[in-house]
Amino acid sequence: MLNIAILGLGTVGGGVAEVVEKNQAKIQKILGQEVRVKYILDIREFPGVKNLVNDINVIVNDPEVKVVCETMGGKKPAYEYSRLALEHGISVCTSNKELVDACGCELSEIAARNNCSYLFEASVGGGIPILRTLREACAHEKISRITGILNGTCNYILTKMRSGSDFQAALREAQDNGFAERNPAADVEGHDTARKIAILATLVSGKKFSYEQVHCNGITQITQQDILDAEKNHATIKLLGMFDAEKSQILVSPFFVKSDHALYNVNDVFNGILIHGNMLGDVMFYGKGAGKLPTASAVVSDVIECLKNFGKNIPNGLENLQPAEVSPITTDEKIRSL
Ligand code: HSE
Repeated sequence: MLNIAILGLGTVGGGVAEVVEKNQAKIQKILGQEVRVKYILDIREFPGVKNLVNDINVIVNDPEVKVVCETMGGKKPAYEYSRLALEHGISVCTSNKELVDACGCELSEIAARNNCSYLFEASVGGGIPILRTLREACAHEKISRITGILNGTCNYILTKMRSGSDFQAALREAQDNGFAERNPAADVEGHDTARKIAILATLVSGKKFSYEQVHCNGITQITQQDILDAEKNHATIKLLGMFDAEKSQILVSPFFVKSDHALYNVNDVFNGILIHGNMLGDVMFYGKGAGKLPTASAVVSDVIECLKNFGKNIPNGLENLQPAEVSPITTDEKIRSL
């Protein structure tokens, strides 16, 4: 029996428990043993949840726990809890892009010192297996450009606005579907996309880009009229995160995307990420960028990798990085053109 714990029984945490239960036979085949969620940590009461605890020390002091899934979001107390787990040799798998952006390098170094791992596949692109692919299959490529629809909530809102919904109603639907952040300003003001493009830029460049370095505009100023005007020109409006390695520029902005562009048909909660590698050329990743089970599936993929490599550190691309230098973006347009 391989024991894990979940920190935070929100949308993603609940999804992790469900994925482990529903795909247990498949997981067992890979690992040769059953995976059990021994503890779920949350300060709230959940009648009927038997393995609920509210003290992190119960988890980190239990030598049976091999991996924790940090699905709390935010920095506090997620940073403390992650650090504590790693210091006890317990690997941490997270969907928390805010923490990965702010403290991922430090947590990765703690993991390396303690022969365990800090993995964060679910932090970018929801269920899309992009980070592992970049780390492994594309490790030898020189990636010069990343252009991505990285926020499911914004893409959902913009898609609904195309068919007549107003902004607030579409945002409420995204919240009801469990796509939006606890504070949806992080979605609609572009900060969530900024964190994700900073993580991607860091992984492909080997330099630490942080969220504060991203020139960032969200979708709050986009009107239905803007969308109708775009359609007259055979285009639509998408919130894109963009990294240009050659110019060392990183930004988040609404863009006009023409109907012949690969990202034009990426709609609803889907994310699409275009990567340009020097040997590979263009490659596009497409899948659900938010939501309970897709995001939880990505967390569970990390859990399996950690359990397969128990007692070893899995390098994650955040170790020993120098800070990146960014060239400023001097223009400020409400909607940019690709
Ligand atoms: N709020 C995020 C989104 C969740 O809508 O994409 C997934 O990171």
